[in-house]
Amino acid sequence: MTQRIALVTGGTGGIGSAICEALAGLGMKVVAGYSNEEKAKAWQQEQKDAGFDFEIQHVDVTSYESCQQAVTEIKEKCGGSIDVLVNNAGITRDGFFKKMGWDQWHAVLTTNLDSAFNMTRPVIEDMLEKKWGRIINISSVNGEKGQMGQANYSAAKAGIHGFTKALAQEGARNGVTVNTISPGYILTPMVAKIDEAIQQKIVAQIPVGRMGQPSEIGRAVAFLAAEEGGYITGSNLSINGGQHMH
Ligand code: CAA
Repeated sequence: MTQRIALVTGGTGGIGSAICEALAGLGMKVVAGYSNEEKAKAWQQEQKDAGFDFEIQHVDVTSYESCQQAVTEIKEKCGGSIDVLVNNAGITRDGFFKKMGWDQWHAVLTTNLDSAFNMTRPVIEDMLEKKWGRIINISSVNGEKGQMGQANYSAAKAGIHGFTKALAQEGARNGVTVNTISPGYILTPMVAKIDEAIQQKIVAQIPVGRMGQPSEIGRAVAFLAAEEGGYITGSNLSINGGQHMH
């Protein structure tokens, strides 16, 4: 069998790096999408020193044209179409809704939800034609339960799972599975930005008594992306230390 090609958006970030490592563990050729070239090059070198041979690719997930261009370049670079897409890139712009500006709303909706269209549309036809594909959308516990200070983020992340369920139905007959992973609070730079006192309040809400590790998300992505994952589609896997059960 030829080597599977995987693209992880936000691949050089906290959870993204762990996802890249886990997919490499399945023997896939992994491309990390990035927005900051300098950071990405340093990340690629660090990963090389750790024994990982990752490709990197600039992509602005808020732009359909940029996503189309990235897919074309990856196909040339890797000599084949993308088999596994992990829509992982995301941002927060937290603030109470009564004080939230349109810019704060729009930045999060376009990066965290429009990106699902922008990045998935250029890869889906190849997957359907090949009759094999894995699309894994990274949502959040806060898309499932809502979170004060995150009306923008919760809306976008809830939208992600609707997207998953619709596309899962369209891909099912052609071997293309589409799933959501909803991480809870994972130890990443995104979570580190939260005020220390609030972080303590959050940990107090988590039955497992700690935040998650990025590798605990990477492992789940690899589980869904595996050859044996063909019967799991349209599902949402919550990984949140028991913070939200439903
Ligand atoms: N859990 C529990 N309590 C929280 C809370 C949370 N997540 N967020 C805010 N609060 C509490 C504060 O502790 C504070 O309580 P007291 O009045 O008792 O002191 C109250 O709500 C008001 O908060 P602030 O004083 O901080 O209000 P602010 O206007 O200065 O800041 C805010 C508002 C920017 C929303 C800030 O509270 C904040 O950053 N909260 C964290 C929101 C959050 O959970 N974001 C998740 C980011 S990580 C992520 O998104 C990844 C993922 O998928 C899980």
